[in-house]
Amino acid sequence: MNDTRHIVTDIGEIMWKCNLTVVLILVVCKAICDGRKDIQNDHKHWKADIDGGRLMNSVVKACPRVVTREEWGARPAKDRSDMATPVPFVILHHTDMPECFTFDDCCKMMRSIQDFHMDVRGWNDIAYSFLVGEDGLVYRGRGWDTVGSHAPWYNFRSLGISIMGNFTTKLPNQKAIEAVDEIINCAIVNNKLKSDYILYGHRQATPNRTCPGQALFDMIQTWPHWKPGNHFPPKQ
Ligand SMILES: *[C@@H]1O[C@H](CO)[C@@H](O)[C@H](O)[C@H]1NC(C)=O
Ligand SMILES: *[C@@H]1O[C@H](CO)[C@@H](O)[C@H](O)[C@H]1NC(C)=O
Ligand SMILES: [Zn+2]
Repeated sequence: MNDTRHIVTDIGEIMWKCNLTVVLILVVCKAICDGRKDIQNDHKHWKADIDGGRLMNSVVKACPRVVTREEWGARPAKDRSDMATPVPFVILHHTDMPECFTFDDCCKMMRSIQDFHMDVRGWNDIAYSFLVGEDGLVYRGRGWDTVGSHAPWYNFRSLGISIMGNFTTKLPNQKAIEAVDEIINCAIVNNKLKSDYILYGHRQATPNRTCPGQALFDMIQTWPHWKPGNHFPPKQ
C-alpha cells in the first residue's frame, strides 16, 4: 500500500518534470523562430528598397536599414519615371530645414518635406532619392530606380542624397555621415551606382544654390569621390 502510493507520487513528479521540459523546449523554439522571422522580414524590406519591389530575386548585399515609405507615412507619388542604373553621379544636399534626431521626429520631417515638395513646389514626390537623419537612419525618398527632382539634368543620372537639417555653420553628426557612406556603398555593391562615381555638392550642379550648407560642403571636399569645380548642366 505504502509502496504503491510512493510509485504514484514518483510518476506524478516525473510527468510534471516532463511537462516543464516540453514547455521550456517550446519557449526556446518560439524565441528562435521569432528571431528568424524578424531577420527574414528585415531582409524583405531591404530587397524591396533596393529594387522597388520588382526584382524580388536579386541579392541585396552590404546595405544599411532603409526606412520604407510605409514606415515614414509617405503619400503615394503623383507620377514617376524610370531611371537607368547604375548612375554615374551622387549629388549631395541638405534640406535647409530643422534637424531630426529620433525616428519619430525624422518620420515627421520626411512627411513635411514631402508635403512641401508636392504641394508647394508642385513636384511628383519628395525630391531626393534618399534622405538621412541624425538618428543614423536612411529614409527612402524616390529610391534607386526613379528620376528625381533635386538637380536639373542630374535628376536622370544621379542619386540625390539629402541630410536633414541646415548645415551652414555646423556639421551633421557622425551617425548621419556614416549612414551616407553606407547607402553609397550599398548602391555600388548592388550595381545601382558606378563604382567610379563622381560626387558633387548641389551648388556645383545647379547655379545660385547654397546647398549643401557651407560647413557640410567644406567637409565633402575631403571625400575621395568629390571633384572640384562647377559642372552646371550643358546648354540644351
Ligand atoms: C540656415 O542656417 C543659416 C546660418 O545659421 C541661416 O542664415 C539660414 O537662414 C538658415 N536657413 C534656414 C532655411 O533657416
Ligand atoms: C545667378 O545669380 C547671378 C547673380 O549673382 C545672376 O546674374 C544669374 O542670372 C543667376 N543665374 C541663374 C541661372 O539664376
Ligand atoms: Zn540641394
